[in-house]
Amino acid sequence: MSTRPTYRIAPSILSADFARLGEEVRAVIAAGADWIHFDVMDNHYVPNLTFGPMICSALKPHAKTADGKPVPIDVHLMVRPVDALAQAFAEAGADYISFHPDASTHVHRSVQAIKAKGCKAGLVFNPAAPLDVLDWVIEDIDLVLIMSVNPGFGGQGFIDSALRKIEQARKRIDASGRDIRLEVDGGIKGDNIARVAAAGADTFVAGSAIFSKPDYKGVIAGMRAQLRG
Ligand code: DX5
Ligand code: ZN
Repeated sequence: MSTRPTYRIAPSILSADFARLGEEVRAVIAAGADWIHFDVMDNHYVPNLTFGPMICSALKPHAKTADGKPVPIDVHLMVRPVDALAQAFAEAGADYISFHPDASTHVHRSVQAIKAKGCKAGLVFNPAAPLDVLDWVIEDIDLVLIMSVNPGFGGQGFIDSALRKIEQARKRIDASGRDIRLEVDGGIKGDNIARVAAAGADTFVAGSAIFSKPDYKGVIAGMRAQLRG
């Protein structure tokens, strides 16, 4: 890329204290979060169960900075089927809604349905999933999310082959000439974020790395320092 990207850090509240979710969202925003990453698991597409649209709408009023600026809610759907829940999340205040193409029978239709609700649409690629579907829908999406762990749990180790996939996704995005975020999810920490950025990512999900530490601000500032090189 010729210009330096605007990096975004998206803490995943999967690793937050579920008994204090609103407070956790406010705290991580005060600590410098750019987006709130919201992991939706259905115990079917992935072997775990998290939260639904009602929790998203309950958190929406908390997703803003102290001076009232909205902070995007980045919904990562790990569900099958996709469409009904995607619509429910659009109505619950989601800003970005991403889904796994292998979980939808009609990917193009699912993307259009998300955009018709006024949300930004993303596609998510598991560690062993090819990017081929992008040949046909890159004109329609706003975000590509590369999984660097198998989805379902926080706190797993980064899978290195994701770096090659990020490079390939970056080439496709640049060739499209479109404004598409390239996000990476799983095992991101202060000691690998710079390598992930060098591969071409501009948006970084981090769950356990942030929420397992008492000083969220320190962790996020450390990640930004790594990104500055
Ligand atoms: C995993 C989720 C991730 C998860 C990442 O299925 O999609 O967003 O919260 O957690 P860490 O950063 O701990 O790997
Ligand atoms: Zn996620």
